[in-house]
Order: sequence, then structure tokens, then C-alpha cells
Amino acid sequence: MKTTITINGRKREFDVPPSTLLLNLLRDDLGLTGAKYGCGIGECGACTVHVDGEPVLGCMTLAVDCDGKSVETIEGLSDGKELHPIQQAYLDEGAVQCGFCTPGFIMSTKALLDENPDPSESEIRNYLKGNLCRCTGYVNIVKAVQKAAEDMR
Ligand code: FES
Ligand code: FES
Repeated sequence: MKTTITINGRKREFDVPPSTLLLNLLRDDLGLTGAKYGCGIGECGACTVHVDGEPVLGCMTLAVDCDGKSVETIEGLSDGKELHPIQQAYLDEGAVQCGFCTPGFIMSTKALLDENPDPSESEIRNYLKGNLCRCTGYVNIVKAVQKAAEDMR
């Protein structure tokens, strides 16, 4: 199906089977491999990207349903060589270990801070409950979100 999607600010046209997942379009067709294939069933958040500013799971979203919409991925977050403040905060606070979950966490964090620039710890934990991390124990991730919020205010 003919599908037009603006990806990280650039309008692109695709001819995709109706069953193509947004995550596969991004990773396999466009080489945008930041969003990860973790569980494939909507439970880990590793595939989180934004569609029209809202966080969505790329493994649960059909590419054709993004027709006419804007998709933002982790690759679109930084400004050239400058990391986005959220990316920098994750590094500064040691919130990245293997890194598999990190792009999804960062895209969820961005959605949270767009909505709520000064979240409490419980609001952070609640918002990020759909993102799973096997390595960090979450403490440093929460600190990273708090630091990013402070830096962005
Ligand atoms: S890969 Fe999409 S939620 Fe796990
Ligand atoms: S840093 Fe390894 S899964 Fe989160």
C-alpha cells in the first residue's frame, strides 16, 4: 500500500504490505536500528518511538496506520553531534549498561517530560512502567530522568 510518513522530519513514501510493522519498516527498510525488537508482543517497550508526538510501540503498530503522520525515533533526537539533554543525562547518571532498552526508555522519557516537565519520582516510575530493563535496577534511570528534567527546565 502506498504510505507516506514523515520520519525524523523527512517525508518519505513507501509501498508496503498492509501487515508491515512500523518497527520493521524503520529497522529493516530504513536502517534506523535504535528502536529494538525485544519481546514483539507489546510488553518490554524496547521498540518505543513517537507517532505525532505520542509514544507508541513499534512492534504493535502497522506502518500503514502511520500514513500522513510524523514518526520520531531516537535517531532524530540529537541535534547533529550534540546529544539531546535526555541522552546526556542517561550517560551522566550511569543509566545505560548493555543499552538494549535505552532508546525505548529515552523516547518514553521524552514523552513524559513533554507532558510533565517536573515529574515526581512516583510519576516517573509510573510513566516508565511499560519499559523493562534487565541491567540497571531502574535507580539510575530514575535519576537520569530527574537530571534531564532539571536540565531542560
Ligand atoms: S518489542 Fe515492542 S514492546 Fe517489546
Ligand atoms: S541497560 Fe541492559 S536492558 Fe537496560
